Amino acid sequence: MLTSDVVIIGAGAAGLMCALTAGYRGRSVLVLDHANKAGKKILMSGGGRCNFTNMNATPANYLSDNPHFCISALKRYTPRDFVELVDRHGLEYHEKAPGQLFCDHSSKDVLAILLTECEWAGVDIRLKTSVDKIAPLRDGFQLQTSMGAIQCESLVIACGGLSIPTMGATGFGYDIARQFGMDILPTRAALVPFTLQPQQLEHLAPLSGLSCEVEVSCGKYRFREPMLFTHRGLSGPSILQISTYWQPGEVIQLNLFPTTKGLLDDLRQHRQQHPKQSLETWLAQQLPKRLATTLCTLHDWQGPMQTYSDTRLREVVELLQQWQIKPSGTEGYRTAEVTLGGVDTRHLSSKTMAVNDIPNLYFIGEVMDVTGQLGGYNFQWAWASGFSAGSVV
Ligand code: FDA
Repeated sequence: MLTSDVVIIGAGAAGLMCALTAGYRGRSVLVLDHANKAGKKILMSGGGRCNFTNMNATPANYLSDNPHFCISALKRYTPRDFVELVDRHGLEYHEKAPGQLFCDHSSKDVLAILLTECEWAGVDIRLKTSVDKIAPLRDGFQLQTSMGAIQCESLVIACGGLSIPTMGATGFGYDIARQFGMDILPTRAALVPFTLQPQQLEHLAPLSGLSCEVEVSCGKYRFREPMLFTHRGLSGPSILQISTYWQPGEVIQLNLFPTTKGLLDDLRQHRQQHPKQSLETWLAQQLPKRLATTLCTLHDWQGPMQTYSDTRLREVVELLQQWQIKPSGTEGYRTAEVTLGGVDTRHLSSKTMAVNDIPNLYFIGEVMDVTGQLGGYNFQWAWASGFSAGSVV
């Protein structure tokens, strides 16, 4: 029978970080993954350029039912630590938005660094390997796998969440947690595009591919970033961000003039100076032309400016700066970047990711109920939680 000090299920971001950390400590480490490639989500991340960390990551960038849980691991392994790692390998990268570090060339470079480090640390990675059964032993675990039985002292669950099943995502991590009597907090697709009702889509789908800067809000949460119209609804960074805080049935509010304070005064002034011009002409100077035309059709903003009363202009301002949209739903796990909810962190040590009352069992990464905002925070959580467990397994 194959034996190893540590078995890690999942060769994603968290699993690989945990593996190399434990390997360098002299532990024998075996990583099992049912996929045909390690780190598939790393490869597809950041539009192929992997936003591998965020230099400004703080616990406030994470959602969890147990908000203090992430503090310790994030302190222990910081964005600077990951930057130090990639610098040692000569990775070329840039800061795309404040704090967000992306590869200059390809996500493949980040995966290559992790795999090289795993190789140097003596980690054994077995792909296309499924785990059928896990049985606790007196001092560890026995796994039934497609490559036979394996015994280990420490078992780390790094199976990720439910997003993008075509990339190998499964609920296996949750099944294991349940097997050991742990609670799973309700899961939901997050960082995900919205879909719209057919009547709304009829007007907006022709804008597919158009992007503009907006401030989107839902309840007390707001994000000012680009928004993208798609043939199914709305996407882009601002929408992905707000999707994490949105509940089905809720309305989101779009401000198409996020930097303009006195929009009503601007419109009044324009009416005075160009009474014969249409509102559409003015709007097309402020917004992408296709969007201006669509808004005018949608709200029936026809006729010259001089026909607009102050009351009507106020309505225009409201529709431009507080445009209420009720999404019909989200695109779901099919395209979501992350899964909200998951293994209840109250079962885990925030320092080591060990399960409190089950010796030598650990959960790391997205499988647990810690979800980052958009911008490199999710990988930082994978690195930090993987490192914390890797330092003790
Ligand atoms: P991850 O999902 O990476 O790994 C889990 C591994 O477990 C997989 O290899 C899977 O095959 C394996 N597995 C699952 N079930 C199994 C089973 N039953 N048996 C064996 N193996 C099993 N984040 C960020 O910070 N910056 C970014 O730029 C992006 N971009 C991005 C784009 C897209 C399209 C997606 C979908 C996601 C992102 N993310 C991101 C999020 C980020 O990819 C994610 O949070 C991390 O990959 C989570 O790392 P984990 O290791 O926890 O899971």
